[in-house]
Order: sequence, then structure tokens, then C-alpha cells
Amino acid sequence: MQKIKFERLTELDQHSNESYKALRTNIQFCGSDIKTVLITSTTQNEGKSSVSFNLARSFAENGKKTILVDADLRKSVMAGRYGVSDTSVGLSYYLSGQREMEDVVNATNIPNMDIIFAGKVPPNPAELLGSDAFRKMLETLKSEYDYVIIDTPPLGYVIDSAVIAPICDGTIVVVENNAISYRAAQEVIEQLEKVNSRILGVVLNKVVLPKKDRYYSYYYSHNDTDGKNKKSKKKQVLTDKDKEKQEVEEVWNMIR
Ligand SMILES: Nc1ncnc2c1ncn2[C@@H]1O[C@H](COP(=O)(O)OP(=O)(O)OP(=O)(O)O)[C@@H](O)[C@H]1O
Ligand SMILES: [Mg+2]
Repeated sequence: MQKIKFERLTELDQHSNESYKALRTNIQFCGSDIKTVLITSTTQNEGKSSVSFNLARSFAENGKKTILVDADLRKSVMAGRYGVSDTSVGLSYYLSGQREMEDVVNATNIPNMDIIFAGKVPPNPAELLGSDAFRKMLETLKSEYDYVIIDTPPLGYVIDSAVIAPICDGTIVVVENNAISYRAAQEVIEQLEKVNSRILGVVLNKVVLPKKDRYYSYYYSHNDTDGKNKKSKKKQVLTDKDKEKQEVEEVWNMIR
């Protein structure tokens, strides 16, 4: 197994960290039989890849042996986003019989977290994901890891996640706040139910909390509360730009 390095790892803010802990705990409470977790959504850009990566990282940091499988064979962002240079050999190579499983599994610089990149875009992603090779791979990973987190393309666009869902223990649907209609999300849920996927929950992403709450949490988590420390008190004043930044940092809610 080769080892890769994520050159661009950023620390999550306190809110995000806590939200991921909550998500992780919710999954753990779904039962010890839940090990392979598929992440999908209705449309593009709702945050599937971000949720997949951070959830895998959260499990790993909690001491669980975890592997992230990038099964978005059509549009993989993992390597570019997290700063990994050589990821040409990945899942598509294994599924098409060009490589063995051990050739595509990478250890990483996050302890307890391994990753399988998507590999070169194949002409037939859904067919490869529906193959026996993928089923066998999941069975092996399930026996070797505590958690297998699988990132996929949006189900409102392509069938890939519905092809994989029946052989995963559970599915999480990421919904971007105010981005899609209730009906569209409902259709995706129904599609997953039709293939007998166990839907573990929905992650509501890109949530903007009321400004008052954001200011409150920033103020009390970063500074002394008795007001004696004038120097740090000055730093408490947030510019509008800071507030905007906070908005995009307020994330993930788990709805069950
Ligand atoms: N909670 C969040 N707050 C702010 N920005 C976010 C959040 N989650 C994701 N993003 C940003 O939204 C964009 C889309 O995220 P991501 O790639 O994770 O979505 P995706 O659902 O995997 O997209 P695709 O359908 O293209 O695979 C990225 O620029 C990402 O940094
Ligand atoms: Mg993605």
C-alpha cells in the first residue's frame, strides 16, 4: 500500500467540528451493523464530497479505522481539493480489472484514515459500480475497516448511487439549505427506498445561523467574559467580512 499526503488540510471551526461529532455519533447509534455508509444528494454542489471527507476524518480522529472511497467516477475532486499530486490509479482501474485492490488503497497523513481515489474517468461508471468487483471490494473493506464512507454523484442526475445503495449498510442524503425543492429531495429519497436502501438521515448543509447567534458564539468562545482584558476585548469586534465568513462556516445539521 502506498502512502499519500493531503497537503491542504484545514482545521474545521468549532461549530463544524461539533456538527461532525454529532453526525458521527448519530451514525454510531444507528447500530454496529452500519459500516458502509453512502453519501449522496439530489443535485450538484450540495456538499457530498465535503461531508464524505470530513465525516471520514472525524471517524478516524475518533480512533476508528476508516476508509474514504471516492466513487464519483465522473467528477472527482478529492485529489485537487486536498492537495494530493499522484492519484492517477484509482477505483476505475480496480473495477475494470487493470489493478488489484491493494494497488488502489492509500494510507494517508491522517492517522487511521485510508483513501481510494476515483481514478481516470471510465466510459461506463454505473456499469462498473454495479459490477461484482465493487461488491467484493466492499465486502473486503467491511472486514478490514470500522467505517467505509463512500462519496457518489448526485442521484437527481445519474443513477450511480442507486446502483451502489443496495450493497451499502446505509445512506445519508446531503441537502443544501434553500437550494432544492422539497419534492426533488422527496423523489431522491423514494428512489433510494425503491432499491431498499436504509436511509440513515439527512444532513442539512450550508446553514446560515441568525447573526445574533453567530456573534454570541464567537464572542464567548474566543474571549474572557469578565471584560477586564481590554486588549482581547478589542479583538472581539467583528467586521462584516468576518461575519460573512462565519456564515459559510456554520454547517451541518443532522435531521432524523
Ligand atoms: N457547509 C459549507 N459551507 C460553505 N461551503 C461549503 C459547505 N459545504 C461545501 N461547501 C462548498 O460547496 C462547494 C461544493 O461542495 P462539494 O464539492 O463538497 O459538493 P458536492 O455535492 O460533492 O458536489 P458535486 O455534486 O459536484 O460532486 C465546494 O466549493 C465546497 O467547498
Ligand atoms: Mg462531489
